[in-house]
Amino acid sequence: MLSLSMPQDFQNHLSNIVSSIDAELDRLLTAQLSAGEIERPENLVAAMRHGVLNGGKRLRPFLVIEVGALFDASLQETLQTGCALECLHSYSLVHDDLPAMDDDDLRRGQPTVHKAFDEATAILAGDALLTFAFDILSSSKCHPSAEVRCELVSLMSRAAGQGGMIGGQVQDIEAETSTPSADQILSLQSMKTGALIRFACEAGAVVGNAPSKDRNRMVEFGKTIGLAFQLADDLLDVTSSSAEMGKRVGKDAEQGKGTLVSLYGVEKTRVLMNDNLSHAEALLQPFGSKADILRETARFVVERSN
Ligand code: IPE
Ligand code: IPE
Ligand code: MG
Ligand code: MG
Ligand code: MG
Repeated sequence: MLSLSMPQDFQNHLSNIVSSIDAELDRLLTAQLSAGEIERPENLVAAMRHGVLNGGKRLRPFLVIEVGALFDASLQETLQTGCALECLHSYSLVHDDLPAMDDDDLRRGQPTVHKAFDEATAILAGDALLTFAFDILSSSKCHPSAEVRCELVSLMSRAAGQGGMIGGQVQDIEAETSTPSADQILSLQSMKTGALIRFACEAGAVVGNAPSKDRNRMVEFGKTIGLAFQLADDLLDVTSSSAEMGKRVGKDAEQGKGTLVSLYGVEKTRVLMNDNLSHAEALLQPFGSKADILRETARFVVERSN
């Protein structure tokens, strides 16, 4: 386990792990066919690659890997599990940017998939990334035990589906035409963004065969930083620039989206975000210095500039 003496050590460690994640995603999304595989349309593979290999922060796979490391999980297994989740997250962004949803032209500093290709291709590339995520997760590279893989598949389905990310996206759209309360906003954010981040932390614990008390603690940690993460996204939408974020900013207010920033203002939202950071740090306390990377990760979630 790496011990960190300075934030710079964390930045170096993060960029090393992100390079491994990027290389593995590139390998998984290569157009080369394995023996016996059915040929895939080149244009579809190109659109899938555009949606994934475009400079995302890779926070979710990084969390799978670092929570896994806390329980001495195999890096090879947490890397695969993390890549499955990153394909699913990237699909959610491809669809989130569609004209029928947030109608955005810029993502990760590049044209969105429906702009670089066309709308039908973006819908289908998103669908293919979603199904590919489960293909990766069910492979023995994620874990030798079929029972554990089945548990991971079940947890990811729930995080991504009607009671998780998709349910949250539906409520997020409804929040454009209603005036949700703070509790309703917190609940929709815990679904639309929190569910995948919570799954990332739980998956690391599952692959690392963590005792149930520690696994529950990681679920709570994931919930807490997931909320802080979306509060940071909403704050950056108001305070940052499109050049820094690689995506359009100011769009929540423009679309009349109910966020805590619209309800409470920037300062109070920042206080709430920092309260979540303190709670996340408290949850890591029993793990001592072994959780230093996760401590820095929680800080990164709220201090990030994009
Ligand atoms: C963006 O997620 C969508 C939200 C849930 C707010 P990220 O900020 O993790 O996006 P990438 O993956 O780094 O592009
Ligand atoms: C998107 O939330 C969350 C998803 C499930 C994709 P946003 O709509 O706020 O994300 P950005 O700001 O476009 O990245
Ligand atoms: Mg959206
Ligand atoms: Mg959006
Ligand atoms: Mg946003």
